[in-house]
Amino acid sequence: MSTKLLPIVVLISGRGSNFLAILEQAQTGKLPVDIRAVIGNNPQAQGLFYAQQAGINTHILDHRQYKQRQIFDRELIKIIDIYTPDLVVLAGFMRILTLEFVQHYIGKLMNIHPSLLPKFPGLNTHQRALKAKVYEHGATVHFVTEEVDGGPIILQAKVPVYKNDTPEILANRVLEKEHKIYPQAILAFAKKEIYLKDGQVIRTTPLVK
Ligand code: GAR
Repeated sequence: MSTKLLPIVVLISGRGSNFLAILEQAQTGKLPVDIRAVIGNNPQAQGLFYAQQAGINTHILDHRQYKQRQIFDRELIKIIDIYTPDLVVLAGFMRILTLEFVQHYIGKLMNIHPSLLPKFPGLNTHQRALKAKVYEHGATVHFVTEEVDGGPIILQAKVPVYKNDTPEILANRVLEKEHKIYPQAILAFAKKEIYLKDGQVIRTTPLVK
C-alpha cells in the first residue's frame, strides 16, 4: 500500500481484542498504521501482553495511583505525546476522560462503543439491550468530543438480537463486528476520507461496509 503510515497510539483497559484486530490488519499490510505504543490503565490488561509480544512499546499508567482524574489525564497526555500520534485509538479504554484531554486531541481521538449509539451509552450495553427487548443491536465507532459516548458517528454495524440470546452471546456477536468496523474507520481516517470539522464528521468518499 502506497499510503504513508499513520502514527497511532492505542489505549486499552483489558482484553485487547480490538487492538489485536487493528494489529493484525497492520501486520498484513491492510491498514497503513504505525502502532507506536499501547498504553493501559490497568497493569493486568491482557492486551499489553500481546503488544509486548509484537514488539510494540507499552506503558502502564495505573489510574488507582492518582487521586485526581485531571492529574492522571495530564500524565497520560505526556506519555502519548512522546509518540506524536496523528490518531489516538480508544480500544476498550474504560475511563471517562477530562475535557482537557479530549480538547487536546480533538479530531484525533476515536472510540468504539458496543451499542448503536445514541442507544445505550455507558456500561452493560448488552444486558440493557436485551432488557429493552430491541430487535437489533451493534457497535459504533465515533470521534470523541465532550459528551461521553456522544461524539459524531463515523461507522456503525448492526447485529440481530435473538430470543435466546444471553449478554455473552450478544457481546460476541457484536465484538465480531467491532473487529471489522474499527480497522475500517481507522483506514478511512488514514486515507483522509473522513475527518472532524466543527463537531461533525466530514466524508470525502462514501464508506463501504
Ligand atoms: C469492547 O466491546 C469495546 O467496544 C468496549 O469494551 C470492549 C473492549 O474489548 N468499550 C466500551 O465499552 C467503551 N465505552 P477488547 O478489550 O477486547 O477490545
